[in-house]
Amino acid sequence: MTTVTATNAGGPVAARADEIWKIYGTGEARVTALRGVSAEFGRGRFTAIMGPSGSGKSTLMHCLAGLDTVDKGTAHIGGTEISKLGDKALTRLRRDRIGFIFQQFNLLPTLSAAENIRLPLAIAGRKADPQWWDLVIDTVGLRDRLGHRPSQLSGGQQQRVACARALMGRPDVIFADEPTGNLDSRSGAEVLSFLRASVREHGQTIVMVTHDPVAASYADRVVFLADGSIVDELADPTAETVLDTMKRLDTHTDPVML
Ligand SMILES: Nc1ncnc2c1ncn2[C@@H]1O[C@H](COP(=O)(O)OP(=O)(O)O)[C@@H](O)[C@H]1O
Ligand SMILES: [Mg+2]
Repeated sequence: MTTVTATNAGGPVAARADEIWKIYGTGEARVTALRGVSAEFGRGRFTAIMGPSGSGKSTLMHCLAGLDTVDKGTAHIGGTEISKLGDKALTRLRRDRIGFIFQQFNLLPTLSAAENIRLPLAIAGRKADPQWWDLVIDTVGLRDRLGHRPSQLSGGQQQRVACARALMGRPDVIFADEPTGNLDSRSGAEVLSFLRASVREHGQTIVMVTHDPVAASYADRVVFLADGSIVDELADPTAETVLDTMKRLDTHTDPVML
């Protein structure tokens, strides 16, 4: 199968991978998670990274976001080459320029929703812009839940708190790893609609890892990973075209399964 270099068709780029290799372990435990991955993620765009379990989606996201180091190649956030940054500069970049949403919400249980949303800004010594605060809180529909602790909220509400937290600092890019993986389909749809709206209406940039074709269909563009390589991409996806592409890739990579 040919390897694809996924470009952003000349538009502004929020995050970029150039020939990234990532290898875990040594000897018999050696796993090549990324095999020279090159991809661009457009600014003001919602891009999904799709692929089967173990294909390297989370590894790629971690390398792009400075949560993990690369073995070869480079990762950029905007014009900053993050593979060159020291620990302090990397921590600052993650804090000031990147928002994160994880499958497991990662909210602090002793803090209220409002306190959780404010926490990253508080750590950075920044204050939320009051207008942006209102806009985000109303868009995620959390106005009457702000005083609640995570345990007093449904899974969908907790993930909406996590989305608001990621957005509040207006980061250059938000990385979301399987953000709907722990949600029922209705709560998942709410979270995805909200992410969609934050891109369309507020110009945010989102890179979302998912293995769900329906989740991917909310994106502007989908890049497909298989076995540590980018193997295809799709513009303006629908759940159907995503599913078709996955089936086609499956016949290439694993004919025995059919
Ligand atoms: N910390 C790690 N140590 C060893 N192997 C890992 C580690 N993280 C990921 N891997 C391996 O790298 C490959 C890609 O993993 P991952 O990026 O998590 O895939 P995905 O998110 O697509 O399911 C898998 O084979 C996985 O087992
Ligand atoms: Mg993963």
